[in-house]
Amino acid sequence: MLELEIDGRKLEVADGSTIMDAANQAGIYVPHFCYHRKLSIAANCRMCLVEVEKAPKPLPACATPVTKGMKVSTHSEQAITAQKGVMEFLLINHPLDCPICDEGGECQLQDLAVGYGASGSRYAEMKRVVNNKNLGPLMHSSARPSTRNCRVT
Ligand code: FES
Repeated sequence: MLELEIDGRKLEVADGSTIMDAANQAGIYVPHFCYHRKLSIAANCRMCLVEVEKAPKPLPACATPVTKGMKVSTHSEQAITAQKGVMEFLLINHPLDCPICDEGGECQLQDLAVGYGASGSRYAEMKRVVNNKNLGPLMHSSARPSTRNCRVT
């Protein structure tokens, strides 16, 4: 067993646990997209960045193993700044088509953008759009990305 402190709470986790496992055990929510407890760790999205004492930069909670005596902050200024930065980056080229999107409001990106994103973006450039490819009669996409303020590539 390994002892650590997460958001000021001391707890013990099994050897080989990640910070995300420890946070879940403590009932602390860390925002994430690519993490799922039943899948192998991808660590692609970087939405789960947290502050770890003595680490020079925020670390992904889903891919960072717990070490003895580790001190983790999931809601410190550094962690929140990192999470907001990732969210802003993810939204740079995301189409502005929430009202007509297939997800119909059941969207984790939308939920996390409200909870962990900034109220505005520093990017004023046109968004990138990828046109639908003709994949044959069996493949059809009814939702087209918004083309307002977009650049087609
Ligand atoms: S959840 Fe995607 S990098 Fe951790």
